[in-house]
Amino acid sequence: MAKIFDSFKIKDLEFKNRVIMAPMCMYSSDITGEVKDFHIHHYVTRAIGGVGGIVIEATAVEERGVISQRDLGIWKDEHIDGLKKLVDSVKKNGTPIGIQIAHAGRKSEFTGEIVAPSAIPFDDKSKTPKELSVNEIKEVVEAFKNGARRAVKAGFDFIEIHGAHGYLINEFLSPLSNKRDDEYGGTLEKRAKFLDEVLKEIKEVIPENMPVVLRVSASDFTEGGNTPEDISKIINLVKNYGIDLINVSAGAVVPAAINLYPGYQVKFAEVVKKETGLPVMAGGLILDRNMVEEILGNERSEFVFLARPLLREPYLVLRWAKEVGREDLIPYQYKRGF
Ligand SMILES: Cc1cc2nc3c(=O)[nH]c(=O)nc-3n(C[C@H](O)[C@H](O)[C@H](O)COP(=O)(O)O)c2cc1C
Repeated sequence: MAKIFDSFKIKDLEFKNRVIMAPMCMYSSDITGEVKDFHIHHYVTRAIGGVGGIVIEATAVEERGVISQRDLGIWKDEHIDGLKKLVDSVKKNGTPIGIQIAHAGRKSEFTGEIVAPSAIPFDDKSKTPKELSVNEIKEVVEAFKNGARRAVKAGFDFIEIHGAHGYLINEFLSPLSNKRDDEYGGTLEKRAKFLDEVLKEIKEVIPENMPVVLRVSASDFTEGGNTPEDISKIINLVKNYGIDLINVSAGAVVPAAINLYPGYQVKFAEVVKKETGLPVMAGGLILDRNMVEEILGNERSEFVFLARPLLREPYLVLRWAKEVGREDLIPYQYKRGF
């Protein structure tokens, strides 16, 4: 029995199936951070394409926290209308949609000053960030809180906190990028403090039944960096605020050689699931339906995320539905194509 097409409920939110569209920067806005027509077409197409849920691309909670100059933004109230239009368009198809709220920290391409836990550049080609003072940390926490408040206003079904890929939250979590000797750095507990505060504040402004997803880099792929066990300990420290799902990715906090092979991150998701007891989303180089069925069937994760396969083939999930005899899931307009 194909498990891909089993629904899954988190709080009151029902995901139609177990394939989630992973967040992907589309570099299609501009310095305003506003939603453009492209975003609406792009996400609605994948919604029609039958994914179980969508996490939209990294959306910056501060202007100096953009990954690129063409990211979406949620740093001011003026962003709400455009995001709401996007959310409404996707929801017309009945697909749950979440937003990945993000701050790029030292990896930001913002033209002005950039910030991080410590004044260490990502690599020798990168700008040196300014070390955040304790007061400034509180301001960034506030920016995450305001981002979450705006996400609720825009109508998102759930919020994903970007704690992965070497961006600001991940920079605090990893001992490789966080060399602070105050209450925000040093031990694992202290490195988790920034995430702890972000979560606590976000939970203040979102409805009780709104699911919260946390994306983590479960391995730094570098000696002395975080391991899946370390990340699980961090999640266990903060999960009481209410985290409903962990999106398990890996790497990118420092430039490290990564041995890539199909499903190379799934084993990290398994560790996080076992150590935290929380549902997880696994993915990264998932190449075909059999891999998805293997991961779900063996209960290695509750969800699988797909990124690049959905750029190549927006109707991939419909093809899989056809392959397992679930023609009923194909929109009537497209039935003759399958
Ligand atoms: C074009 C592109 C943009 C991405 N942007 C983001 C992003 O905004 N946030 C994020 O957490 N991951 C981002 N990723 C990583 C993906 O979510 C995913 O983890 C990665 O591509 C591995 O999955 P895949 O093998 O299915 O592509 C991006 C990946 C791609 C290809």
